[in-house]
Amino acid sequence: MLEVEGIHTYYGLSHILFDVSLKVSRGEIACLLGRNGAGKSTTMKSIMGLTPPRQGTISFKGKSVMGKKPYQLARLGIGYVPDDRRVFADLTVGDNLEISERRSGDSATWTKESVYDFFEALGHIDHRKAGLLSGGEQQMLTIARALMTNPEFLLLDEPTEGLAPMVVKTLEEQIGKLKDRGLTVLLAEQNQKVALNLSDQGYVIDRGMIRYHGSIDDLRDNEEVRKKYLLV
Ligand SMILES: Nc1ncnc2c1ncn2[C@@H]1O[C@H](COP(=O)(O)OP(=O)(O)O)[C@@H](O)[C@H]1O
Ligand SMILES: [Mg+2]
Repeated sequence: MLEVEGIHTYYGLSHILFDVSLKVSRGEIACLLGRNGAGKSTTMKSIMGLTPPRQGTISFKGKSVMGKKPYQLARLGIGYVPDDRRVFADLTVGDNLEISERRSGDSATWTKESVYDFFEALGHIDHRKAGLLSGGEQQMLTIARALMTNPEFLLLDEPTEGLAPMVVKTLEEQIGKLKDRGLTVLLAEQNQKVALNLSDQGYVIDRGMIRYHGSIDDLRDNEEVRKKYLLV
């Protein structure tokens, strides 16, 4: 569904991604694992058209999306949940969701009601100002907001970072259920446990290069790679 081939991305003169390639097939969760600063967010932003690669190609559903703007990628069905959990702090939870709504026309569309069915905790705080939410609630809200755009594909950038273990567990379950709802996911994580539990295949990135790619079982068994490139 998503194919990234040999991309090189820069911030100004700094060369950050080197020949990064990855493929995510429809209906699966793929993880991009790596330490802080490895290039996970830059890969996500490159896919989303926020830091366009200078070389390489990216295609989505079989068509090149090179040069497309973030809003065009959103229209094509890519939802993006950045790592900063930015919500509209002065708006209520409900308004945060409504402002993001984009109907896709087919039957499997997400509405505020179905999002509240999915994230029950959010349904209970529909009227609360988003700025007053806990970290876990804000993360749910940013994912929920992306769902309101009715994506087929979701880029999730470190959704569990900095959250308490109980909250991480809940989010992990919910991300797993997104796959059951037919979403395809690319999940950037430093948290190996979450990524290994959820994913079908795994990529390991370090210093802007993909160092390993394999099935999630192979990655779980490969202690050498995990020790070398990931946090223990
Ligand atoms: N806006 C930026 N300008 C310059 N360098 C950046 C910027 N954002 C990230 N970097 C650098 O790019 C590298 C990869 O960062 P990033 O993709 O955020 O890694 P990760 O998400 O894996 O922690 C790091 O060395 C980081 O310092
Ligand atoms: Mg990051």
